[in-house]
Amino acid sequence: MKTYKIVALPGDGIGKEIMPLSIEVITTLIEKVGGFQLNIDQYPWGCEHYLETGEVMPKDGIQILSQYDAIWFVAAGHPDVDDTLSGWEFIYQMRKQFKEYVCLRPIRTYDGIETMITNKSPIDLVIIRENSEGEYVGAGGFAHTGFSNELAVQTTVMTREGIERIARYAFELARTRRNHVTSVTKSNALQYTQVLWDKVVAEVAQDYPDVQFDWLYADAATMRFVQNPAFFDVIVTTNLFGDLLSDLGGAIVGSIGLMASGNINPENDYPSMYEPVHGSAPDIVGKGIANPLATILAGAMMLENLGETTAADILTSAVNEILHGDTKTGDLGGDANTQDVTSALIEILKLQ
Ligand code: NAI
Ligand code: MG
Repeated sequence: MKTYKIVALPGDGIGKEIMPLSIEVITTLIEKVGGFQLNIDQYPWGCEHYLETGEVMPKDGIQILSQYDAIWFVAAGHPDVDDTLSGWEFIYQMRKQFKEYVCLRPIRTYDGIETMITNKSPIDLVIIRENSEGEYVGAGGFAHTGFSNELAVQTTVMTREGIERIARYAFELARTRRNHVTSVTKSNALQYTQVLWDKVVAEVAQDYPDVQFDWLYADAATMRFVQNPAFFDVIVTTNLFGDLLSDLGGAIVGSIGLMASGNINPENDYPSMYEPVHGSAPDIVGKGIANPLATILAGAMMLENLGETTAADILTSAVNEILHGDTKTGDLGGDANTQDVTSALIEILKLQ
């Protein structure tokens, strides 16, 4: 039987509450669907691991992870640990070393979940965030630290190759959806990197005459997100703007607790990494009330990209059924806890 090697990384905080229950859900799903298996290993890496051992992950962590077909992660972050450490020594390591240059963030409305916006047209869009360069390359430095002329420099780096490959990914994806790509930049103010972005994306657009192509400045895009989000199908944007727009997207459709994300290596040379958009939520940790659905939807995205579309569809439908019902966590206006939601999901899956 086809067997995939999966690594599950709970990370910190609510990750440790969500991951074991999510594994139970996916195990039930796979028993039900049949035809393939997941071999799931877990590692306890993250900030709590750092507090115990002095390292966020072992020195050969990336090499260990490289042997898997996919990575299923929740979130890293602890109030007692500098956030740049979990970022640069763990999360960005995976994204960079595994050339996960596409960050895929679907944003949609669900029946049964109130959105914050007054225009009630259904929202079904995907943000394609450039995940390897731009504002987050980590080029920069401090000078004159501690003096009155203390300064910091942070450089944005964009390359033709990096822009072209993300643009092609977006246009190809649009062909499987509603054939519409919107590029979001700020080339009126950032006259080098963002201008190169505009130029290269417009060139790529010429290869896709069947796809409607338009662009918006990032500030106007945030307004459109609130006033008429149904306008969007596929958004292609730079690392920083993609980060901001996806949290905004989560807010308008109901909760960040529903938003899943894929860090994709499209060439499949390395494992892709699937995670919720949210973090380790230290404010609710230990209460058992975290919404597990974003992590579970990230699991569905993982199954889909592994080619197990039937299993992914069944899992997504089961989540839809939950959202129609009364078993919802506090972030969605309910009073269920994490365990209630995953138990209800398991019951739905058993009835399939
Ligand atoms: P956060 O996403 O952890 O929390 C923001 C708010 O949303 C909080 O009020 C939290 O309770 C709520 N929330 C988040 N996930 C939820 C869920 N599943 N169910 C119900 N409510 C939920 O973001 P914050 O507070 O900015 O960051 C906390 C820590 O997480 C930091 O250390 C940060 O660096 C880390 N982080 C890690 C990420 C990752 O590993 N990829 C992503 C974002 C943050
Ligand atoms: Mg974010």
